[in-house]
Amino acid sequence: MLVSITKANITLANYKMAEDQILTIGANGDRILVEYLSRSNGKPEVIIFQHTEDKILAWHNCQAAKSNYANACWHLAISDILYNSGPCQIDLIGEPDQFWATKDLTQEFMPRPGKFQTVELSIEGPDPIPTEIDIPEKHKSLRRFRLPKTLLDKVIAFRERQEQRLTGEQKLRIPQNVNYIPQNAEVTYAVSALLYDTWSPPLLMGPKGSGKSTLVEALAEILHLPICRISGGIDINADYLLGCKTLIPEETAPAKLIAKIGVNCAKVGEPLTVEELRQLSGGNATMRVAHEPGVLLEAITNGELILIDEINVLIPEVTSILHTLLDWQRTITVSGLGEVKAHPDFRLVAAMNVGYMGTRPLNNAFRDRFRGIQVQGVSRETLMELLQERVAEDTARKLADIYEALYESVYSPTGATLSENCISLRSLLRAAEEISMGIASQKEIIISCLTESLESASERTQVKDLIEMRL
Ligand SMILES: Nc1ncnc2c1ncn2[C@@H]1O[C@H](COP(=O)(O)OP(=O)(O)OP(=O)(O)O)[C@@H](O)[C@H]1O
Ligand SMILES: [Mg+2]
Repeated sequence: MLVSITKANITLANYKMAEDQILTIGANGDRILVEYLSRSNGKPEVIIFQHTEDKILAWHNCQAAKSNYANACWHLAISDILYNSGPCQIDLIGEPDQFWATKDLTQEFMPRPGKFQTVELSIEGPDPIPTEIDIPEKHKSLRRFRLPKTLLDKVIAFRERQEQRLTGEQKLRIPQNVNYIPQNAEVTYAVSALLYDTWSPPLLMGPKGSGKSTLVEALAEILHLPICRISGGIDINADYLLGCKTLIPEETAPAKLIAKIGVNCAKVGEPLTVEELRQLSGGNATMRVAHEPGVLLEAITNGELILIDEINVLIPEVTSILHTLLDWQRTITVSGLGEVKAHPDFRLVAAMNVGYMGTRPLNNAFRDRFRGIQVQGVSRETLMELLQERVAEDTARKLADIYEALYESVYSPTGATLSENCISLRSLLRAAEEISMGIASQKEIIISCLTESLESASERTQVKDLIEMRL
């Protein structure tokens, strides 16, 4: 794929070098390996260049791939530092496929030797180093989650087991290609908690729109587990989670349908009478009592991943049901069925916003069963990536500036001037989406998306002023 490098890309590459974001420049034959610090996760990444007679080749992968490098990226523009190539086209071949260099060239470009981290400097040649290259082809998509090698091995073993055991229907419920960009080590921590010998349920904590639900989808993709979602609320009760007794016809079709109708009626409080059920099934069914499992019981027995969103809205009756399930016992007591043991591959993840209306603090014993993980929202770089999937770089930058200004006004340590209602990543992404559709002027769309859902007229005016100052 040919990618055009712009002047802006080159300026940024030089700026990054001055900021010491480039760790290493090493050579291996005709190839030059550059190791740089990724701003999204603070970890070293590698890009490889090769200058042939008439073109520059590169082996690289970064978030800009999502937009097919529509605006290129500063990493590719390092070619200008290496070859003085200026704005040009680069042939992007694939992902970096080699992580050793035989010569340190860093000092030719910077006043210091290379800081080799992922790239190994080995005069003699390659030593087999465990790198992403070792990921088997069918698990290659995990690369983007940047899991450490030891954890990755566990993940792969778990995934292979799921591939063998799950039914086709269950596999259809496994999320694919989840666009979650790791911010800190939250993905690693959550995955490792789910894969301890006695796993712990992660509890994702963070403000609205910080990526908790998206992270859970990513966890399901990583573990290759079908997902079921429960959203906390006062109407969630034991029957909904575990199920309840219902009458089902002994043999006559359509037994399943009738049982379902029975359960639904039971939930709203008006069960069908036996006579009504009999009429439904043609009047000739013999009925028997059976247990219709609730969503949680199904996930527990079928070995699936359950997300309990807004766990701090659940009523105590429900949290107490979960106590033994989330302990080493991994059992749950179901009225009429007795003690049910969880499938060994069953997993649970919970999420919550802290301190919102209607929430209650989790009691200590309950909270202690979880591995707490903070999900605090996206970095500027991730924000730019998400926006650039929808709009051009300069528009993305304006939107990111507006978002940062709102963030300042909402979370300023010296005194907030706007309430939390005024900041919403979702609204910002909607604005980007609408801009990409060209349905009105940029300014109109941004003001409309970011102010119209605010109830307070004075906040609407304040946010509008803040936007206008930045456009
Ligand atoms: N790290 C991230 N990588 C990619 N997208 C993200 C990330 N964080 C947030 N988003 C995007 O922000 C939006 C909101 O994310 P999400 O629904 O996961 O937040 P949440 O924390 O569950 O919010 P809420 O508490 O309101 O339910 C989504 O469009 C999501 O794709
Ligand atoms: Mg959510």
